[in-house]
Amino acid sequence: MPGCEVLHHVQRGQHGPVLLFLHCFPTHQAQWLPQLEHFARQYRVIAPDFRGAGRSVVVDPTITVTMEQQATEVIALLDHLGITEPVHLIGLSMGGYVAWQLAATYPERLASMVLCHTRVVADTPEQAQGRHRLAAQTLRERSAEAILSVMVPRLLPESASPEVVERVEQLAREASPEGLAAILRGLAARPDVSLLLPTMQHQCLVISGELDAISPPAEMQAWAAKLPSSRFLSLPGVGHLSPLEAPALFNQTLAEHAPW
Ligand code: MLT
Repeated sequence: MPGCEVLHHVQRGQHGPVLLFLHCFPTHQAQWLPQLEHFARQYRVIAPDFRGAGRSVVVDPTITVTMEQQATEVIALLDHLGITEPVHLIGLSMGGYVAWQLAATYPERLASMVLCHTRVVADTPEQAQGRHRLAAQTLRERSAEAILSVMVPRLLPESASPEVVERVEQLAREASPEGLAAILRGLAARPDVSLLLPTMQHQCLVISGELDAISPPAEMQAWAAKLPSSRFLSLPGVGHLSPLEAPALFNQTLAEHAPW
């Protein structure tokens, strides 16, 4: 386990079923602020920083934090909080990659899954090499700028507001270079989970974005159809980060269609 301390996390709401919000890369738990504020009225909501993101520190510049390790750390957090009941998971992109690992290894800890803007395939060798190069550059320059210049044009559509771009940049700059590099290597090492899809036992809501360049709606709809119990939705006018780009639309979609 790369970190000996439990994942940094925020918790809101005292009552109701547990909603577990898992963030994307290169942000951290604060990306979910509009969702936490909205859903804490009726639910107990929890959002961790993945190992390497935000305040869940990584010190060693050479390590890889895999999606499997992230899943193990999320379970350790739930244990730490005394949460034994199955939780409703909402995972965005990397949060979805970790959701697949949680569903495969700890299915009894989940009640349902909302999979937003995520994928089931592994990186191509070229994509993986690109992530390793970016990890080395991030460590060398001690900054998130290289990641932002490669990723922001893919994370957000041209129509995204300057405020949303600034928010994503701010969240990425709050991680350490060691943490960003460890996660990049973990993303490059993630497995293809296509064969797991028909074995998934949970009710799933799959949310895509019309303008998503990373996980396009057609790709997401194709894998969603292989889940035994799923509903697929495509949100208009948004890219890869709908909870940040259009929080009201995203919250309303969850409130109306989530399997809780
Ligand atoms: C994310 O949003 O978590 C990343 O775009 C995932 C990825 O790069 O594969």
